[in-house]
Amino acid sequence: MSTTRVAVIYGGRSSEHAVSCMSAANVLANLDPDRYTAVPIAITKRGQWTTGTTTLEDLRPGADGSLPEVEAGERVTTLPPVDVVLPLLHGVNGEDGTVQGMLELANVPYVGCGVFASAAAMDKEYSKKLLAAEGFAVVPYAVLGPTVDTLTPGDQDRLGLPVFVKPARGGSSIGITRVEDWDNLPEAIIYARTIDPKVIVETAATGREIEVGVLEYPDGILATSLPAEIRAPSDGGWYDFDSKYFRHDELRQVPAHLDLDTVRLVREFAAGAFVALGCRGLARVDFFVSEHGDPVVNEINAMPGLSAASMYPQMWAATGLEFPKLLDILIHRELGQPY
Ligand SMILES: Nc1ncnc2c1ncn2[C@@H]1O[C@H](COP(=O)(O)OP(=O)(O)O)[C@@H](O)[C@H]1O
Ligand SMILES: [Mg+2]
Repeated sequence: MSTTRVAVIYGGRSSEHAVSCMSAANVLANLDPDRYTAVPIAITKRGQWTTGTTTLEDLRPGADGSLPEVEAGERVTTLPPVDVVLPLLHGVNGEDGTVQGMLELANVPYVGCGVFASAAAMDKEYSKKLLAAEGFAVVPYAVLGPTVDTLTPGDQDRLGLPVFVKPARGGSSIGITRVEDWDNLPEAIIYARTIDPKVIVETAATGREIEVGVLEYPDGILATSLPAEIRAPSDGGWYDFDSKYFRHDELRQVPAHLDLDTVRLVREFAAGAFVALGCRGLARVDFFVSEHGDPVVNEINAMPGLSAASMYPQMWAATGLEFPKLLDILIHRELGQPY
């Protein structure tokens, strides 16, 4: 029986390069070899497209904690013949509609959100605008365009302390600072600008941090995973890069311990947010849930992390859907076939 050829594109120029490598490791380990032939394609941090690896150790963190990175190698200048592409890129130049646009132009089927939804989900300003337009609650925020260096006194009053200062188009908590004193705002803005000239400043939400996976079946039915919870580190920190990738076991509850009404509500809102942005295939919707059980959408990830340590595959496993099967569903959604 011939297999489906799946290009797995990973790495890339964004600050989430290493996360993408870890996602690729998990996908390559879980694509059923009886059904699929994986064609790995790696993009270096400088943007060179190269032949990827199937040696999973090269895609995982080293024993010393060093993060994986694509090495420059044999250049790929044309897409090899494949049936479908899995663009496992996180962040700009990948999760933001750019690679999706290239694949649309090349007329190659690919897994996940299209150009618009990818771009909208990547940008924390525009995703909030679209969600608010559909009636979803979002935290109060202010956007600082590239030439604006600080918040107006009016915005400081409106937002209140503490605030989160973030690159508008970032991910994996990179470039984010929690600011408790306005004196520290300029430094936080400069730090966020190392990732994106556009910065967003948000009121710190209170309540629990809850995530839900959304998956679209080939027949268009939207399924939502059981929610999971992120518990802030007890040392007063928040869900920063190190917590996400190196302390995940102690900081996560999969599935979350929530009452049934809240579970129903966040699952319903997750599917609603997916539709509001015009997503396709998959997304992870992240919320803050107040003590009264009101969910506020924090962000939508158009290509959520898919590493073994990532929430999305873990939430689906907790819902009864193992990763190889999940990959079948995603791929067959794009091939227009039942899985
Ligand atoms: N407005 C906010 N209120 C409270 N916590 C926040 C807020 N924004 C971000 N955080 C914390 O920072 C983490 C990373 O922020 P997030 O917006 O999810 O950025 P990223 O796209 O990098 O994942 C969140 O998981 C949460 O713990
Ligand atoms: Mg996040």
